[in-house]
Amino acid sequence: MLTESQNTFLNAALEGENIFLTGKAGTGKSYIVKQVIQALKKEGKQVVALAPTGIAATNIEGQTIHSFFNVQPFGVIKFEDCRFLKSQKRDIIRKVDTFIIDEVSMLRPDLLDAINMTMQKNGCGSLFNKQVILVGDLKQLPPVADDNTKSILLGMYSSVQFDSARIFTKIKPKVIELTDVLRQDNPEFIENLNIVREGGKSGYFRQFIGKGQKGVILAPYNSTVAKYNKLGLDNIKDEKAYSFDAIIEGDAKISDFNLEPIINVKHGAKIMYLVNSPNTPLCNGTLGTFIVGKDDNYFIKVNNIEYPLEIKTFTKKEYIYNEESDEIELREIGSISQYPFKLAYAISIHKSQGLTFEECTIDLTSPCFQEGQLYVALSRVKTPEGLSIIY
Ligand SMILES: Nc1ncnc2c1ncn2[C@@H]1O[C@H](COP(=O)(O)OP(=O)(O)OP(=O)(O)O)[C@@H](O)[C@H]1O
Ligand SMILES: [Mg+2]
Repeated sequence: MLTESQNTFLNAALEGENIFLTGKAGTGKSYIVKQVIQALKKEGKQVVALAPTGIAATNIEGQTIHSFFNVQPFGVIKFEDCRFLKSQKRDIIRKVDTFIIDEVSMLRPDLLDAINMTMQKNGCGSLFNKQVILVGDLKQLPPVADDNTKSILLGMYSSVQFDSARIFTKIKPKVIELTDVLRQDNPEFIENLNIVREGGKSGYFRQFIGKGQKGVILAPYNSTVAKYNKLGLDNIKDEKAYSFDAIIEGDAKISDFNLEPIINVKHGAKIMYLVNSPNTPLCNGTLGTFIVGKDDNYFIKVNNIEYPLEIKTFTKKEYIYNEESDEIELREIGSISQYPFKLAYAISIHKSQGLTFEECTIDLTSPCFQEGQLYVALSRVKTPEGLSIIY
């Protein structure tokens, strides 16, 4: 059964309106979005569901914005950075009636504009001509951007968030807010989550400290995440340990890519896929299990389906000036080859946004460092019984 506000959203979406669907964590935004996608498809509409991160995209059975629009993964995106797309992709975009983007609190304004600019550059009209449904909660995590990127963004936009994008004022979405929290049903828990949401302090959560370790571990820092992943692997006692070293050639650094320098893994380990893989549902953020098959072939098992894991080679390129031809050309300066996965016993709070857990343990030995981060972490679990905090 849908809530009243979920129904309001469903009807507005079917009427073709542009919408910003918002509401607290767990009010059923992503849930109703999945239903709206089905309802729109039934009406013969072509719908593309997108999100700024891989996990959030998987959550609504969609794709990341970066992979769909082939957006460069670094820097502030301007018109000249938007890429020319394959004709097949252009045909897809022309046919789309509705774009739905979830977790827009993490969507940068330049990325929303990049969608529009990539469409224009490729002769696919403008986002303005499509139905646009944006979904998210601005009290959750803001976009990831280092200080340099932030200052460039603030030179171009009035904030680092999606609603300052130039295209946003043209879309003029109707704001619909979902009001009933559905992820949790314990009123005291919900009430105290709201206090944290508004930036207040709540003594209520002290009772969850020291409840042991249960479910997936969430932590603010990647270093804490790495520590738990090593432990998770050490706890698989009877399996052979595999180690895969990245092969780095030329002038490429591992930090240029979303890959691990060394992967230590065993059959049955919890892992996360790290790249977008066309023609499969695998994308950056897909969670699964590492499987060793016959003849040491490796797989990632997701929803009971095993997908082969293959080493990927990524090249780093740089523009150079060719004196002979008096032209600027792209030259390969290095490459990295590695399997595109890593251990996933623990995940960063950033990567957990949008997910629902029966159980989880939040490690706050190093405290949260961003607005919305603690709220995102605490609001993932369904019941107080499922929550543990390490402090
Ligand atoms: N109408 C409904 N009936 C039953 N369960 C629902 C309904 N709406 C949402 N839920 C459940 O409530 C939980 C939270 O929903 P969902 O993940 O869609 O919330 P959200 O608003 O997207 O949260 P977040 O802001 O954290 O992404 C999920 O487990 C979902 O299955
Ligand atoms: Mg959601």
